[in-house]
Formats: sequence, C-alpha cells, structure tokens
Amino acid sequence: MRDEIRRAVEVLRAGGLVAFPTETVYGLGADASNRAAVARLYAAKGRPAAHPVIVHCASAEAAFAWAREVPPAARRLAARFWPGPLTLILRRSERAGDFVTGGADTVGLRVPSHPVARELLEAFGAGVAAPSANLYGRVSATTAAHVREDLAERADLVLDAGPSPIGIESTIVDLSRGRAVLLRPGAITRVQLEEALGERLAERDEAAPPHPGGQARHYAPRTPVQRVAPHELDSAIAALAGDAAVLAFSRPDERVEYWIRMPRDPERYAQRLYAALRELDEAGCARILVELPPEAPEWEAVHDRLRRAAA
Ligand code: TXA
Ligand code: MG
Repeated sequence: MRDEIRRAVEVLRAGGLVAFPTETVYGLGADASNRAAVARLYAAKGRPAAHPVIVHCASAEAAFAWAREVPPAARRLAARFWPGPLTLILRRSERAGDFVTGGADTVGLRVPSHPVARELLEAFGAGVAAPSANLYGRVSATTAAHVREDLAERADLVLDAGPSPIGIESTIVDLSRGRAVLLRPGAITRVQLEEALGERLAERDEAAPPHPGGQARHYAPRTPVQRVAPHELDSAIAALAGDAAVLAFSRPDERVEYWIRMPRDPERYAQRLYAALRELDEAGCARILVELPPEAPEWEAVHDRLRRAAA
C-alpha cells in the first residue's frame, strides 16, 4: 500500500482523481484547493455544480482551517468523534472555494478514521474533496469493484482495501447557524450526538439552507424499491407473481429467485445494505421488496437510506 499511497499523492497533486476507502463508503477524491480538479470530480460523477462536497482532512486542526468560525459544539463533537464517521457543516473560511461549497457560505468537513484514508491524507498534507465514489443518484460504493462498476476509468487510481466497515455515509451535523441540526443520520447516532453536546439536536426548519443531497430520491437502485411491513411481505410477493427481488430478515421463500437475508443487527445490516441493493438491482426484476426493520432509534440511519431508495 505504501507505493500506492505515493502514486495516489502524485495523482492528486497533478489534479487527478483518486478513489479511496473510508470507514463509511468509498470516496472519489480530488485536491480540494484545485478548481479544475474539483470540476473533473463533478463531471466524473455527473453531479450538479450546486451540490457541495465534503473536505476530508488528516486532523481536526487541519479541518478547522477551512472554517472561519469554530463553535464550542464543533470542538466537542470533533474531540469525541474524529477521526470517524461524522461530517460537520461550518461557516467557510477563505480557503474553501465556492467550487467545493456549491456556492454556499458553509463547508462540510470530515476527518475519517480508515487507516488507508488517514495515510493518504497525511501523505498528501492538504484537504481532499471527496463525494461518495458512485454515479450521481446511485447507491454509494462500498467496495473497489463497485467503484469501478460506476466510474470505470474516470478515476485515475482506485485504492482497494476491501469492503467498507460501516457501509453507509457519515452522520452530518450542521453547526453553521447556532443550533446543532442533524442533516443526515449515520453510524454516529442522535443519542450519541446529544450526549456529547449536552443538549437536544434541533429539527430542520424552513430557514435552513438547501441541502442538495437531502432530496428524497438519492441513494437509489434502478429497480423500483418498495418497503413492506413484515406481515405484508407474503402478499407483496404474491402480487408480483415471482418477479420480485427480496431483501428480508426471514428465510427465503420458494417463489422468489433473488433473495438476500439480512442480519437483525442494525450495524451489520448497514454494512451489507448497499452491496445487497446493487446485487438485487442486477437481477433486473420488476421490483425490489424490502422488509422494514423495527421502528427503533438504532435503525434511524438504515430507515433513512431505505426511504430514499424507495422514493
Ligand atoms: O461518509 C461520507 O460522508 C462519504 C465519504 C466519502 O466521506 N462522503 C459522502 O459524500 O457521502 P457525498 O458528497 O456523497 O454526500 C455528502 C453530503 C451531500 O448530501 C451534500 O449535500 C452534503 O453532504 N454537504 C456537503 N457540504 C455541505 C454543506 N456545506 N452544506 C450542506 N450540506 C453539505
Ligand atoms: Mg453520495
């Protein structure tokens, strides 16, 4: 990996694109200070220009240089959860060009914990702008093979470190407007955030700045996804007369050819979710039926991704 990291740094310095593993999902990285490189990044994904990207850094200190104001709550969350699967939205400093913020006055910052991401960021020594390494609107890539499937040669280099351990994108907290607001649930839960902050998270309100990735349909397979309560699974399968692919907790049903049985533990479920959706998408059935997990706080991030996949 050492030699590959060296090559990856060269690619980034030359304005190229490097796909790299993080603990959440794979990212497609570019030098966050290089306008042309970031433009290539948007083109590779097919991502609209108004859609901001997260700047990844090797340390909290390096990350906070991208913000003009670091409220105590940001320091508290950083001390507790960085390096790790948390993104903070702060008011941007001069360093954060409008080409990474999507023209917004804020910037998204994250210090990942994956050893390969850390090595890369330390060796590069500057911020790396990285959205998830998938085509715009598709589910995130959690393996190097998924990255290649979506982006092919559009990434100049793909660092392969096996499946992403968490499997869904980072928790995003907006701290740019006084109160802490949860924009995207993730492995770091609401309860953990509130514990660290010593206060409740605020709900998103109308005055909140647009959150482009927050639109309902995002993270979606091509096959329509239908969420079904456990007691409705049987009739939903019958209604599709076998032309269904199923993601469920229960044992496979004989009528269904493509069936993936998921773990009842929310973390293990999240880790497998995107690979499972991609696999069922490949089956080319009329519909993917997803048996709904329990309505419990520890399933919040999974529910969020399933809602978007089905929107
Ligand atoms: O786990 C992750 O966060 C992965 C890995 C690679 O770090 N990255 C990721 O990036 O999921 P992306 O671009 O696919 O999703 C980032 C989300 C988008 O919905 C974007 O709108 C939001 O973060 N975001 C980034 N900067 C923002 C800002 N300044 N204000 C509001 N939302 C922001
Ligand atoms: Mg994404």
